[in-house]
Amino acid sequence: MTDEMFHVKPDLAASAHVNAQRHGLMTNHALNEPDSFWLEQARRLDWFRMPTLAGGGGFEGEVRLSWFSDGTLNASVNCLDRHLPENGDRIALIWQGEAEDDVRHVSFRALHAEVCRLANVLKGLGVRRGDRVATYLPMVVEGVVAMLACARIGAVHVVMFAGFSAAGVANRLRDSGAVLLLTADEGRRGGKRIALKALADEALAILETEGGSPVRQVLVVPVIGTPVPMRAGRDLDYARLVGEAEPDCAPEEMGAEDPLLILYTSGSTGAPKGLLHTTGGYLLWASLTQEIVFDHRPGDVFWCTADLGWVTGHSYVVYGPLSNGGTSLLFEGTPSWPEPGRWWRVIDKHRVRGFYTAPTAIRSLMREPSSVLAASSRDSLRVLGSVGEPINPEAWLWFHEEVGGGRCPLVDSWWQTETGGIMIAPLPGAVAQKPGSATLPLPGVCPVLVGHDGTVLEGATQGEAEGRLCIARSWPGQARTVWGDHARYVQTYFSTYPGLYFSGDGARRDSDGYYWITGRVDDVVNVSGHRIGSAEVEAAIGSHEAVAESAVIGVPHAVKGQSLMAFVILRGGGGGEAGPALEAGIARHVGHMLGRYAVPDRVLLVPDLPKTRSGKIMRRILRKVATGEHEQLGDVSTLADPTVVDALVARLGQ
Ligand code: WTA
Repeated sequence: MTDEMFHVKPDLAASAHVNAQRHGLMTNHALNEPDSFWLEQARRLDWFRMPTLAGGGGFEGEVRLSWFSDGTLNASVNCLDRHLPENGDRIALIWQGEAEDDVRHVSFRALHAEVCRLANVLKGLGVRRGDRVATYLPMVVEGVVAMLACARIGAVHVVMFAGFSAAGVANRLRDSGAVLLLTADEGRRGGKRIALKALADEALAILETEGGSPVRQVLVVPVIGTPVPMRAGRDLDYARLVGEAEPDCAPEEMGAEDPLLILYTSGSTGAPKGLLHTTGGYLLWASLTQEIVFDHRPGDVFWCTADLGWVTGHSYVVYGPLSNGGTSLLFEGTPSWPEPGRWWRVIDKHRVRGFYTAPTAIRSLMREPSSVLAASSRDSLRVLGSVGEPINPEAWLWFHEEVGGGRCPLVDSWWQTETGGIMIAPLPGAVAQKPGSATLPLPGVCPVLVGHDGTVLEGATQGEAEGRLCIARSWPGQARTVWGDHARYVQTYFSTYPGLYFSGDGARRDSDGYYWITGRVDDVVNVSGHRIGSAEVEAAIGSHEAVAESAVIGVPHAVKGQSLMAFVILRGGGGGEAGPALEAGIARHVGHMLGRYAVPDRVLLVPDLPKTRSGKIMRRILRKVATGEHEQLGDVSTLADPTVVDALVARLGQ
């Protein structure tokens, strides 16, 4: 079944941006004459000064990457101003609020004015080029306005997901040194309210007690209209200031390598890293991939369901669609609230053409009665996309056949926060699909598979193989550094396999050269498409007063892909009577430290953990025990105390 081919419908294939022939030409051009290829691609953007250097850079030594370094541009000009002369009245953003009647249509002209107003406010508050500005907002138009206003004045945006806890926000503000924070009185989610201003206050209080917060001002967007305490001299009303500001603001002329954004993401060790993306290369990648992967046409309504707080929201809610003059749909709600079928109604109501979501959502929606889907027509859909986790063939087929009526190409797109945009995906009209495979690299992307022992596999870029997914050459959308810690960037991505960028994922390549992503090979767990580091959750658990030590693993989950399971040893051992209550308390504590998205489904108090003689926790063994495969533990000769396993099996059986 998985090798069945799904050729795209001829109408789309014939008119698609990239057909099979052009795909081949582009791929060869990129391979043989990379400078000329990338400079040609760069022309899709509006530059103040057109670059004459492509660039790139090797993955050895210090890894100083740079693209189009003699070019200058402004990202907000590319997303707004360039569309004004001919398409100023076209809708840039459709905002669908949680309530059915809460809808805003924002034209490019109106968005431009609002962005300029906020840009003027930020300048008036002393925000300068290169300063970091953080946002902690729900899915509202102001979230997009804030990003583009930063881009306009050369400030670096640091968008934080509204599901982060106060401690999570404090960590990101501290690390980025943000001088200003935009937040909201409250946010809505699934019929509930999130007290964002109160959480922001708590985050700032944490920083103040530590001896100083970098944040000088807080701009509060009145999303709900709830009165919230405002601290004099620090907290300011967004609506009043923006309402009074001028609707024109000259864009800063930014170097292509000037920072555009910092976005935090989890890895296998330590606290989340702030990946830095620069202006020219990132924007080019978001713009190019949006066009060719989703066969984008001007005026298309594109709906990427990701939150603005993740990279998918950055690239495919904001920079990709808007730079191409498309209409981007921003939805405040959740898939099945207030009742099942909400997403399908949104698609029909707003005539969505491109629909991009995550396998978790698809798996949960396919469990609903078929009458729910049948109540919508979805006849506006032309392209479907999947991202964030491996998509199982059953979910792929349901999405393709039932949601898309079998007539829309389904692009399973592999990429990461670090890559800035899509890297491996079937271009509609050019590449035949296979359910469950991300298929072929985009032109200019050079994946290689590396064996477990670290050797690049024979015929690294062709032929059947399975290994770790690396990229051999730089591409414009690549993150340039980890904010404030370049050594960590080099160490994390370029030291495992010298000369290669290591993604942290495993992959298989079939005899057609198609890539099948098998999932993370490090200690990153992918829960509902959210990247969570085991170490991060273990650190949160470890800060609970009763805890001595813990180990966190991902276990397979039918809807979420993976779920988190935590094994915890208490101080002084035991758990006793208080066991279940304490387990729940530890789970709540993780929510408090990181946010609800990172709360383990199961917390288990255990007497001991499987360790090597040198004291390293063997998560491999925990995973086997958790999935009931303890009969096939493999080599346990390195275990310091093999009886630990029996105790764990007994504990899990309880
Ligand atoms: C996983 C999200 C399989 C992968 C864009 C990667 C995928 C991580 C796919 C990045 C896919 C993303 N198939 N796995 N199509 N897309 N992943 O940084 O493990 O939030 O390393 O970026 O998601 O997650 P991130």
